[in-house]
Amino acid sequence: MSTFEIIKKTHFIVVTIFFLIYLIKTILLLANKRDALQLFTKKVKIIEMIVSFLFLATGVYLMTQIPEIKPILIIKITIVLLSIPLAIVGFKKGSKGLATLSFILILAAFGIGEMMKKKTALVSEKAVNTDGSINAHELYSSNCAKCHGEDGKAGITGASDLSVIQLSNDSISSIIVNGRKNMGKVEGLTPEQTKAISAYITTSIKEH
Ligand code: HEC
Repeated sequence: MSTFEIIKKTHFIVVTIFFLIYLIKTILLLANKRDALQLFTKKVKIIEMIVSFLFLATGVYLMTQIPEIKPILIIKITIVLLSIPLAIVGFKKGSKGLATLSFILILAAFGIGEMMKKKTALVSEKAVNTDGSINAHELYSSNCAKCHGEDGKAGITGASDLSVIQLSNDSISSIIVNGRKNMGKVEGLTPEQTKAISAYITTSIKEH
């Protein structure tokens, strides 16, 4: 496992724990179980501190590794950063409204994260040559190079080195369509475009 994968897994685990702690706290508050809430808050205090620190640290690391910061990611981060002070104030004041609002915001951030996993291919007008044939170089540049690099060697987010690839065109096509581990599937390409990208990799990116 690469450092990126380990940190990504850690981030997911700490976010889940963080989320569960808030879920339990919100339920206790809404159910008017003030004593239980106080006891629970005291019990998880240290865990919560460690989890919050890891949440931030792994989040910042992941942000430095991703190929491009999209507006949707900025929205996600803003929501997370907003929900935390809201939760702190909400629980301190015992405000059900604020605590619930904060919980809904965290839930929304989670949802945005899930949405971001799907990747729709970018197919510009340049993807078709003047003679009507497929411009595989353009498709590769706009959909693959941000992780693999124009030469296939960039390795961003742990992407495989495509200049030393041992796969057949069909296997590459299948990875594009289905994804593999840290590489999400790339949707919206026609079978012809997928084949053209695969052929471009084995003929122009792979070093012979
Ligand atoms: C968001 C980053 C990202 C993008 C965009 C991306 N890849 Fe990947 N790719 C990866 C990662 C990470 C791996 C390693 C996956 C694994 O661990 O098996 C990978 C692995 C591969 C492999 C397997 C190589 C091998 O030898 O095992 C192929 C082939 C591949 N990518 C092709 C493509 C193609 C073609 C595109 C564009 C249509 C593309 N990738 C877009 C991140 C990306």
